[in-house]
Amino acid sequence: MSQFNITTLGQFIIERQSEFKYAKGELSRLLRDISIAAKVISREVNKAGIAEIIGETGEVNVQGEDVKKLDIIGNEMFISTLSRGGECCAFASEEEDDMIALKGIYSKNGKYVVCIDPLDGSSNIDVNVSIGTIFSIYLRISEPGTEPDLKDVLQAGNKLVAAGYVVYGSSTMLVYTTGKGVNGFTLDPSIGEFCLSHPDIKTPKDGSIYSLNEGNSIDFPSGVVEYINWCKQKDKETKRPYSARYIGSMVADLHRNLLKGGVFIYPPTAKTPNGKLRLMFECNPMAFIVEQAGGIATTGKERIMDIEPSELHQRVPIFIGSENMVKKALEFVNK
Ligand code: AHG
Ligand code: MN
Ligand code: MN
Repeated sequence: MSQFNITTLGQFIIERQSEFKYAKGELSRLLRDISIAAKVISREVNKAGIAEIIGETGEVNVQGEDVKKLDIIGNEMFISTLSRGGECCAFASEEEDDMIALKGIYSKNGKYVVCIDPLDGSSNIDVNVSIGTIFSIYLRISEPGTEPDLKDVLQAGNKLVAAGYVVYGSSTMLVYTTGKGVNGFTLDPSIGEFCLSHPDIKTPKDGSIYSLNEGNSIDFPSGVVEYINWCKQKDKETKRPYSARYIGSMVADLHRNLLKGGVFIYPPTAKTPNGKLRLMFECNPMAFIVEQAGGIATTGKERIMDIEPSELHQRVPIFIGSENMVKKALEFVNK
């Protein structure tokens, strides 16, 4: 990227605005608001150690897990940014029990609904390992101007207007799609802008990375265990054995696999029969991005994006990534 030939996220969003016949600039403003919240969270993540904001708050979130301070900072950051913006009428977050109808002066007229996992991979905060933020945008179903309700949020992934993630890694990157391909932007801290660094991301059809928490394999379905064993076998043609890579932050694991090719699996386990990951906050948005980059995302039985959600905090098993790798895993699982 030449120093004088940069495209910022803001410029890129405006250039692409005409791709949406119904959009009158609100979606562009909403994406810009989200990117601002992401920059603030990135700043907080970077200074987490020195500002003593790492560590648990002592509270437990609606999923029954310990909540880290940065989760709360991220959550509050999005609520305040989106309330002020006015394009979004309702907000749902992994950190909130229920949908929140935003209370900004213009919020009721907002056309969009946003779902957020403000801090993904929170167990990695304290140890300076990559974490992320995941966002999803839907068009509301109820009439603008009225009070939004849960049906505005509980929509299938195939209704997504946009989705993206931010990975706070060795640099901060924002990757998003509006259904017309996937583009990645790297935060240049010297100018405070996300700059286009990964245009039109396509994920390889094949790969040699498998990512799952193998420590739980005693509780995995036998097909998943057989697939892992297959990944470890020697075979020149399919370049096996594959590499095992698992960070424990879905965003970071999927970001790596998206660029390099790989499969990420969170299967149903004896302890968690529906898997662990949340449909509305993690699986749908990541499925949209991976599909737009040419990959696949399925529960093993159905396409993630076709699931009609029944509740906000619903969990689903997920097999996601490079097309041929996911298909191979499913051969074992559906045997
Ligand atoms: P979150 O920090 O938002 O709760 O998400 C953690 C998720 C996901 O990022 C990751 O892939 C998975 O939990 C890891 O789970 P295990 O520790 O069970 O492997
Ligand atoms: Mn998460
Ligand atoms: Mn989270």
